[in-house]
Amino acid sequence: LENGVARTPPMGWNTWNTFGCNINETLIRQMADAIVSNGMRDLGYKYVVVDDCWFNPNRDSQGNLQGDPSRFSSGMRALGDYLHSRGLLFGIYQVPAAETCAQYFNGYPGATGSLGHEAQDARQFAAWGVDYLKYDWCSPAGSINDQVVAFARMRDALAATGRPIVYSINPNSIHEKTGPLRNWGDVANMWRTTEDITNAWDTGQSNGFPMGIQNIVNVNVPLASYARPGGFTDPDMMEVGRGGMTDTEMRSHFALWAVMASPLIAGNDLRSASAATLTILRNQNLIAINQDALALQAAQVSNDGTRRVLAKRLSNGDVAVALFNQGSSTTTVSTTAAAIGKSGSSFTLRDAWTDVTSTTSGSISASVPGHGTVVYRVSGGGTASPPVTFRLRGEASGRC
Ligand code: DGJ
Repeated sequence: LENGVARTPPMGWNTWNTFGCNINETLIRQMADAIVSNGMRDLGYKYVVVDDCWFNPNRDSQGNLQGDPSRFSSGMRALGDYLHSRGLLFGIYQVPAAETCAQYFNGYPGATGSLGHEAQDARQFAAWGVDYLKYDWCSPAGSINDQVVAFARMRDALAATGRPIVYSINPNSIHEKTGPLRNWGDVANMWRTTEDITNAWDTGQSNGFPMGIQNIVNVNVPLASYARPGGFTDPDMMEVGRGGMTDTEMRSHFALWAVMASPLIAGNDLRSASAATLTILRNQNLIAINQDALALQAAQVSNDGTRRVLAKRLSNGDVAVALFNQGSSTTTVSTTAAAIGKSGSSFTLRDAWTDVTSTTSGSISASVPGHGTVVYRVSGGGTASPPVTFRLRGEASGRC
């Protein structure tokens, strides 16, 4: 979406994965303080997103949305002001329906969705200083065209406010699985491609609830050609630091989200994040790859079912290559400089996790533990007229 924002994948934190409906302004302020003091804000994690259940179940007499008076007693404008004073940006949640997901599925009181209130709610968000709207399809199933119309209505309402607001949509809830079926970049800055993530490696789902890391990667990788400045596939908020996975799996999760040019929205409790968790979330090599100005999503180079290789062309001619072991025991994962679009006979590989550099005349490989991902930043030589899988907008269409 060409609305001036999200030129690279948005980064931040969201309440839902850890807290669900259990949220209040004190929690959000504490999380904002943590994201500043632990250094994440300065690495790019700017959007603090208040997901479902922030609202008063009743609109006011003019039909305006209001924060829940008991849990957000200072008001939503004050919360936005607090985030802005900390150098952060303010994200909020709404739906293109009568009821939010928590109202529709879980009996949360009220019916405060934006259906029929789009312009009024967009103006309200702008007045509160909102910088990011997560708009979540949780109404009874409609056709994909109904979804496009409903999402576009809020897109236009946000534009009419004149405030730059990242527009994050989820066409995938209520199990229509429409997220991967089209390029939603004409509608939104980021769009969910899968059912909800959980803190597990593999739940056996193809695109059902809940999705593990491996399951999400399977859906999201083939959508690589959609990513560009202003529009990103969204494989959901991260589960790094939420248990349920080994350290190797957590690292793999983060590395794969980084190369897929995925929004990096943390979902763990940052007030109590371990050193190991922060080492993952603050990996500057991977953040730089994720935030590269070309904004390309890694394309698949090969996949034999166990060894999967993805490559992301970067703005300075380097290529980031992910060597992903989908099996459960250690194996060597290999590719070549030529296969990832490099020409020449001498290259430097910088390991994104260890920061160790090595040189190669063309072969690129690593011993990778089960469920692990090694990422190299490959520099040197030329960047060949890229294979079709690395296409930019306007180039020939790729095999993805
Ligand atoms: C479904 C979404 O996929 C989740 O990320 C979260 O926003 C919930 N709805 C909130 O009810």
